[in-house]
Amino acid sequence: MDPVVQMRNIHKQFPHVKAVDGGRIDIQAGEIHALIGENGAGKSTLMRLLYGMYPLDSGTISVGGNVFSAPGYSTKEAIRMGIGMVHQEFMLVNELTVLENVILGFEPTLRGGRLDFSRAEENIGRYIEDYGLDVPLGRTVKTISVGTAQRVEIIKTLYRGAELLILDEPTAVLTPQETEQLFSILRTMRDGGKTIVFISHKLGEIMEIGDRITVMRAGKYVTTLNKKDTNPAELASLMVGREVPGDKPRVRAASTETVFSVEHLYVASDRELSTLRDVSFSIRRGEVLGIAGVDGNGQSELIEALTGLRKIQGGTARLFGRNIVGEKPRAIRAAGLGHIPEDRNVRGLNKDFTAAENLFAARIDEPRFGGWGILRKGAILGYAKNLIETFDIRPAAPEVRVAALSGGNAQKIVVAREIDAEKGFLIACQPTRGVDVGAIQAIRDTLNQAKARGVSILLVSTDLDEILTMSDRIVTLYKGRITSELVNENVNIESLGLAMMGGAQS
Ligand SMILES: Nc1ncnc2c1ncn2[C@@H]1O[C@H](COP(=O)(O)OP(=O)(O)OP(=O)(O)O)[C@@H](O)[C@H]1O
Ligand SMILES: [Mg+2]
Repeated sequence: MDPVVQMRNIHKQFPHVKAVDGGRIDIQAGEIHALIGENGAGKSTLMRLLYGMYPLDSGTISVGGNVFSAPGYSTKEAIRMGIGMVHQEFMLVNELTVLENVILGFEPTLRGGRLDFSRAEENIGRYIEDYGLDVPLGRTVKTISVGTAQRVEIIKTLYRGAELLILDEPTAVLTPQETEQLFSILRTMRDGGKTIVFISHKLGEIMEIGDRITVMRAGKYVTTLNKKDTNPAELASLMVGREVPGDKPRVRAASTETVFSVEHLYVASDRELSTLRDVSFSIRRGEVLGIAGVDGNGQSELIEALTGLRKIQGGTARLFGRNIVGEKPRAIRAAGLGHIPEDRNVRGLNKDFTAAENLFAARIDEPRFGGWGILRKGAILGYAKNLIETFDIRPAAPEVRVAALSGGNAQKIVVAREIDAEKGFLIACQPTRGVDVGAIQAIRDTLNQAKARGVSILLVSTDLDEILTMSDRIVTLYKGRITSELVNENVNIESLGLAMMGGAQS
């Protein structure tokens, strides 16, 4: 079959880095084409060029036989040629309903200019039915889950006439169950004739969903393979350019000193399902306690409550002996809490500031970085350079704005800052979400080193492999209650999965 898209000799330079350096890809009609590579390899940039978001420096793009050379074309034209893109960071308007978001900018009108909502609803109903894209059209976006928001984004591109859908790391924000659901939607769309580009660095997923696979490394095209001719180990070494070491054996926590404990905690939520009821657990010095649960069972509310962002209705939470119920986030932080937040875009980073500013933000009160309203730029840059090197943040440029970093490198900034803050207790939510195989290892190693220094960690992750690799003990949260507490010796992924669905009580 002829490719629907050919990109050849693509070059794109950004101020600090050559994002795409001789990129190419052939996408055939009716396939699921996986695009893989490490953080910062240029995957998002290559696809944003195809979607017309930036001008090309040089190269050619051909879409369905139409050939464009640098500077390419605009997003408007890309949409007209049937290209749609769902970005790594969603672009929905929180205050509007699902339906309003879908038709935004492409509103069907009646004669006289009034909006024709019923026609829109009818069109959208077709996608919902044909592809199993279940969404509540009347709900406001801020009340729907991440998985649902993603389906809204997909519908939005279909509504604009997309024949080729680019999904940029769609599973980074999904639970295993939601991922399965998405995969079945993607297969149905492919079998119905749509073409899909699936960006990811999760090898298991690529082997499951991809028909063909293109690998990028450091902005360059490496190769394109048929899924059936390759395997995860080969893909990992093609991505990274070297062998990738596995997880080291877990260090055990020896101390009996309790660092953090909650007792009979009650927390209200915006939605009834996830209200926390009578939650109790404790964490010892140097221990990792994993919280496993399907998204929406109270994890977010628990973390918000413990970090001072959500009101605690009843019970106690003690950090180093001090009851933190009712305390402000800043006071809790001062009492010894570090926090890698779940959503780095909302709470973790200020994207308009530089990498250095974001990295040193947790230490703004320290005299070595200034005082009397004066900041010592040299000291801040030196501090940032050090972390950038330790955590292999790319590009290694402290003055680059965080908005210009790739998704995985932005995540590394939050992790670096919070681990380096050396608080005695760290809440780590999805710490390796969106980062590549090499960086996952680096982040897990630094968490383990912090643990060995006596830092206690509450690990919240929807990635069960991560929970099982990192945790000393595991509690499962189901419908706002703790349904089981397991020592990570006699647990496997099946028993854990069952407990997460409320199946096992102990
Ligand atoms: N708008 C921009 N301005 C400046 N630099 C950018 C911009 N977008 C991307 N970059 C840089 O280009 C390089 C490639 O980034 P890109 O987002 O394409 O990587 P990626 O392969 O999608 O990585 P990830 O897996 O982390 O999302 C990175 O070094 C990034 O910092
Ligand atoms: Mg990306």
